[in-house]
Amino acid sequence: MKILVATEKPFAPAAVAGIKEVTDKAGYELVLLEKYTDKSQLIEAVADVDAMIIRSDKATKEVLDAAKNLKVIVRAGAGFDNIDLSAATANNVVAMNTPGQNSNAVAELALGMMVMIARNNYNGTSGTELKGKNIGIHAYGNVGRLVGKIANGFGMKVYAFDPFVAKEDIEKDGVNVCNSVEELYSTCQYVSLHIPANDKTKKSINFDLLNTMPKGGTLVNTARKEVIDEQAMLKLMAERNDFRYVSDIAPDAKDEFTAKYADRIFFSPKKMGAQTAEANINAGIAAATQIVNFLENGDDTFKVN
Ligand code: 3PG
Repeated sequence: MKILVATEKPFAPAAVAGIKEVTDKAGYELVLLEKYTDKSQLIEAVADVDAMIIRSDKATKEVLDAAKNLKVIVRAGAGFDNIDLSAATANNVVAMNTPGQNSNAVAELALGMMVMIARNNYNGTSGTELKGKNIGIHAYGNVGRLVGKIANGFGMKVYAFDPFVAKEDIEKDGVNVCNSVEELYSTCQYVSLHIPANDKTKKSINFDLLNTMPKGGTLVNTARKEVIDEQAMLKLMAERNDFRYVSDIAPDAKDEFTAKYADRIFFSPKKMGAQTAEANINAGIAAATQIVNFLENGDDTFKVN
């Protein structure tokens, strides 16, 4: 069996070593395509592989159609909006993610960005503290849960909205449940986004919702840029000079945000939420193990298509 690791943004070397250990043990051949700059390189690399591991790399129909022997593709991470699931299904390819494996890294970054913006991007001026402020967790999944836990340590009051998680499961973590997204945003100075990007959520973070946030409203995005209505956000920042936006995924209108509101924003140069040795090792090894379990035993736990 031939396994490809295709990562435009590579894993830490220790993660690659961990993946290799798993594939070596199974007697598989491991091929690496790292830091590629053109999709033609990916299309060439997938031609004869049986399985592949990707991160935010785009597994489009074109890529999946070119992967004639592919049986399983694993997104080492949580969000699988980068895989064309219909094309995978049409080609009899099982698509999986590795939920939870990189969550702590993302949660730590969310809080790190909050501290940074509360201290005016460390520019030497007097900032504010997180203690005593309300934080709203928008979607209480693996990352949201951890953000709540860490925020609690900062002395923040934690709220959450998630229609897919039972109220009691949220409350048993000592988190206050909001019954609507509007209630969450209007209650919290900080909102941390943890929703996936799909047809229902794209551009759902809009002007009316954001404008309900109290004074000093700060949106923290370690999810996906597609869920934000960027024009609405620009309008809001023009109308409210207290509003701040920090994101691990730079918006399409990054230049306009930066030119107009540099002191109220922060955008990572490259998505770095999951970019830690620990997260890479956890997600990479989980992906390799899931591939072996699927190819050897047909175990399709974490199948998403
Ligand atoms: C995820 O969905 O797991 C994160 O967005 C991480 O993405 P990355 O592996 O491309 O850093």
